[in-house]
Amino acid sequence: MDRVKGFSKFSKMDKLKWVCSQLPKEKASAFYELRHYWHEDAKVQQRFDEFSENTISNFTFPYSVAPNFLINGKNYCVPMVIEESSVVAAASKAANFWSTRGGFKAQVLGEIKSGQVHFFSEKPFSFLKEEFSSKISEIKKAISVFDSNMIARGGGVQEIALIDKTSELENYFQIDLKFKTCNAMGANYINTILEEVANFLRVHWPFAQVNMAILSNYTPDCLVEASVSCPIDSLGENAQEFVLNFKRAIDISHVDKTRAVTHNKGIFNGVDAVILATGNDFRAVEACGHAYAAREGKYKGLSQLSLENNHFRFSLTLPLSVGTVGGLTNLHPLAKASLDVLGNPSASELMMIAASVGLAQNFAAINSLVTTGIQKGHMKMHLLNILSGLEASRSEIEQAKSYFSDKTVSYTAVRNFLASMRISQ
Ligand code: MEV
Repeated sequence: MDRVKGFSKFSKMDKLKWVCSQLPKEKASAFYELRHYWHEDAKVQQRFDEFSENTISNFTFPYSVAPNFLINGKNYCVPMVIEESSVVAAASKAANFWSTRGGFKAQVLGEIKSGQVHFFSEKPFSFLKEEFSSKISEIKKAISVFDSNMIARGGGVQEIALIDKTSELENYFQIDLKFKTCNAMGANYINTILEEVANFLRVHWPFAQVNMAILSNYTPDCLVEASVSCPIDSLGENAQEFVLNFKRAIDISHVDKTRAVTHNKGIFNGVDAVILATGNDFRAVEACGHAYAAREGKYKGLSQLSLENNHFRFSLTLPLSVGTVGGLTNLHPLAKASLDVLGNPSASELMMIAASVGLAQNFAAINSLVTTGIQKGHMKMHLLNILSGLEASRSEIEQAKSYFSDKTVSYTAVRNFLASMRISQ
């Protein structure tokens, strides 16, 4: 690609044309492909374009639903946006399974988020502490104008503390603020307040050098637990053997990080799909979840299993910072539709839904892994994807499904099968 000047000032069409002009001739059809995905409603398209910069098209993902999620006695049909086959099928299957065994129980264990003003000072902590005490009411006053709305909604700044970090880094301190953000994810609100505190320090604390002011995406006090439980005997045939293997799988995820990462990836297959469908920030949720998985100094699987009194209790505790108002949740038409499908939940209700879907996903994955293996289910979907890529007709799809019902699916095998069928016609 050539270097380009002033690209951000080009019109959208010119950006698209420029990108395509850089492609080899045989790839020129990319222009039509990228142009094809522009939304037909110019107003909607403009909104999408405003979410990001240098947009030249829209990238489409499947929008699915997993029905029959019984959570705290309420039945949900959960929207899931994910491109990986089998995930939604697995969630739906687990949701169905648990809906006849009491469903998911979920509870929010905390809703506190935090942010820090990071600064350096050569002054000792004792000096800073006194200065901090003498200025705290002025700091509170300075931020009050930005906090009044959130306070009126039942949230707001909960705590402001000075933290000594010098044992970890020379001259390093923080002003740490704790927030309740009600139904908002709250990133803008938190960052605005933090920057106000940083400005206050810049003006009033000549002995401090502010480095940055930013929310933390690590939210271990914004925590949710989802669980399922039933008598072991009601888990179906071979329940004792199943439970033994299930327990071993959980134990492995707690001691072995090669497995723990994949185990947690499966959980986030479910969580992220809900987070994306509702217009929330999946990068924040993932980064936080993985840091939480390593909170004891070792990365571990996030789910827990207890088998007391012949009861199978499977649970997932996860930090989840989400919003159901503000940000993309109100702007993206499909995020809005997702919230409608979920009955317009509060942020804490959405935390419970996402955690339940993560747990369902994990249950489904381990269930498959310790019994049939996952390839059986995956390959069915994989076969359909390959057939679709090879533009198979309806009748070819049906014949391929029956032919591969007892054979291993691979791209080459499917292509050869189709070729032989097409030749013989
Ligand atoms: C695949 O996307 C997710 C799994 O690998 C999760 C797991 O192994 O637990 C099936």
